[in-house]
Amino acid sequence: MFETLGEIDIEELDYDLLEQIKPKSQTHFSGFELYYPKLSKSPEIQKIYSLINKVAVSNASVLIQGETGSGKELIAGAIQALSLRADKPYVTVNCAAIPEHLLESELFGHDRGAFTGAVTTHIGKFEQADGGTLFLDEIGDMHPTTQAKILRVLQEQSFTRIGGQKVIRVDVRIIAATNKDLWQEIESGRFRPDLYYRLNVVTVQIPPLRERREDVPLLADYFKKKFAAELKKNIGNFTAEAMELLANHSWPGNIRELRNLIERAVLVTNSGEDITPKDLALTGKDYFAAGGRDRRREERGPSLPSLRLEELERMAVNIALERSKWIQKDAAELLGISPRALNYKVSQLGIAYAGWRKNVV
Ligand SMILES: Nc1ncnc2c1ncn2[C@@H]1O[C@H](COP(=O)(O)OP(=O)(O)O)[C@@H](O)[C@H]1O
Ligand SMILES: [Mg+2]
Repeated sequence: MFETLGEIDIEELDYDLLEQIKPKSQTHFSGFELYYPKLSKSPEIQKIYSLINKVAVSNASVLIQGETGSGKELIAGAIQALSLRADKPYVTVNCAAIPEHLLESELFGHDRGAFTGAVTTHIGKFEQADGGTLFLDEIGDMHPTTQAKILRVLQEQSFTRIGGQKVIRVDVRIIAATNKDLWQEIESGRFRPDLYYRLNVVTVQIPPLRERREDVPLLADYFKKKFAAELKKNIGNFTAEAMELLANHSWPGNIRELRNLIERAVLVTNSGEDITPKDLALTGKDYFAAGGRDRRREERGPSLPSLRLEELERMAVNIALERSKWIQKDAAELLGISPRALNYKVSQLGIAYAGWRKNVV
């Protein structure tokens, strides 16, 4: 689908044409939003683009990491639209927005009478997404108990509704996104490493906008044209000073922030006039403050895998169990310890598996 456009000269973009291009799936993206990676000047974004083209056609789980507003949802939608499941359901769940006690019912559904108030059967997101893709947004905010249940579905490709008996088999591709540093979450015990390994078959790390400043003028221009067209206004260019402000801002809210800022600027600018610094709600001081923030971040270094022995042990035990289909005797052999020692570790670490009768979470 991307190919139909051929090589694009970024300077000569025909935004109208891009807006008209409709993706083949029912997702709500405009042409530009689907094509934007190719329109970016950032080498990192180009790499992401070729990665999502490759992974889209597989069924591999994808984990998208990036700050808020950096385009995670957009990338998830693009992967779906490019995938072999493009015409199949695309179901999204925002794990941070749904209260924990409702999330499980939301994901797995419940049978009538499963709990007080369950007056009808509810089909969960996993069932709705059967054959297609389930997008788990803000997965870093998911409660560990729910994480354990998701992990089990991923391992077994089946589950039961809350209060239900019937085992329901599903074929669902998972795309997950988070703005959290999942390694940090794992270190502090809030995220399960075994689920992390399951989800993280392919990682897409979206750089923050301040690390790809070359795209700021491109995106600003795009949003200006988009909102001017929507408001039927004829807006001029950004003045040099206005563009400098945009170029120097640190964009903590990333593309979402830029989009909102330009929408507002187009609103307050009179038809026929250029966009000047006073039309932008920016002070110009922020870049230096952000530079300080960036430097501090670099000093800490990139986040590294946890070296806490307990976490490494948990990971090793989980991987061994998975490889040996949860047969403890075989897993013990892989780990080079006695089955008794493994059994002790399993209960010490609180590892549970539905197939073992005791120990069920
Ligand atoms: N490359 C892009 N081109 C155009 N719009 C974009 C781009 N990336 C993000 N956006 C827009 O920015 C906003 C935030 O994107 P979103 O995918 O919701 O970010 P996140 O999920 O990471 O918070 C949305 O309005 C989205 O359409
Ligand atoms: Mg989002």
